[in-house]
Amino acid sequence: MIRQLEELARRADAELQEAHAEEALNELRTKYLGRKGLLTQMLRQLGSAPPAERPRLGKLSNEIKDKIAGALDAALKRIEDSRGDELLRQEAVDVTLPGRAVRIGQRHPVTQVMEEICGIFSRLGFTVEEGPEIETDYYNFEALNIPKDHPARDMQDTFYVSDNIVLRTHTSPVQIRTMEKMRPPVRILSPGKVYRPDSDVSHTPMFHQIEGLLVDRGITFGDLKGVLTFFLQEVFGADILPRFRPSFFPFTEPSAEVDIRCVMCGGEGCRVCGQSGWLEILGSGMVDPAVFANVGYDPEEYSGFAFGLGVERIAMLKYGISDIRLFFENDARFLEQF
Ligand code: PHE
Repeated sequence: MIRQLEELARRADAELQEAHAEEALNELRTKYLGRKGLLTQMLRQLGSAPPAERPRLGKLSNEIKDKIAGALDAALKRIEDSRGDELLRQEAVDVTLPGRAVRIGQRHPVTQVMEEICGIFSRLGFTVEEGPEIETDYYNFEALNIPKDHPARDMQDTFYVSDNIVLRTHTSPVQIRTMEKMRPPVRILSPGKVYRPDSDVSHTPMFHQIEGLLVDRGITFGDLKGVLTFFLQEVFGADILPRFRPSFFPFTEPSAEVDIRCVMCGGEGCRVCGQSGWLEILGSGMVDPAVFANVGYDPEEYSGFAFGLGVERIAMLKYGISDIRLFFENDARFLEQF
């Protein structure tokens, strides 16, 4: 029986050398160690061996059993390990490769200038009010003292949605909407999109304006000059000299257009300022009593000033951009420069 056991151990060993696949190894385990396996059967015969030999035979069988089981486990583990290695090789990530750069976006230059302007006026106590871009004839024109026969109402200057509805041509309707809902003192700024059917190097059908309105007791043209001079010096530098030039707007009286010395040529005269040495920056004026009447403010008690400016125009002058359309092409190479 000892010889039988040793023979069995040898055979198992030989077959183990040949078995490389997981399946073959499992078959071997069943063949030798299974419930009806060869070694199991021999162990059952132990009972019929002479009692004196049983301990030795028992010990030997157990050693053989452990050896086969150990060899099977080791072989299976090798297979598992190599499978893991293979997986690692397939999924390998080369951590030394350079990463893909993430492109960081930024705010559009028009937005940047708009925020800068709102920031300057907020230091003077102005708060932001917004209004609709699709506006009624009443708010865009009528309430602003723009009579039916005024040239600003010509079809050529306005996008009409219907007889009575327009795309707002300026941010001034927000003046009316604001005064309708609050009593003085009023100190608001209203940034937003406006629309006019124009298109060339200095005009786009949609552009941005910022409206300002200040109403209180005892407000004078001196306040208008002081506030706008402060604002322009904040944006263009303390040494700029604004010029207040008489003008006309139906909703302000008196009205003034405000110019600064040309930032390109310093006043010498160049292409940007049309050889005049001055740049027109914004429209302004003292709120017309007719406008106050439309919102129920008493012109005897209150006075105020309003102004409106084009954001793209200011951005163009600030950054030396010569074509307004660049703002809307959204070429990243252009936008990244600001
Ligand atoms: N709304 C005027 C425009 O678009 C600008 C303006 C606003 C002028 C307020 C005076 C007062 O041209």
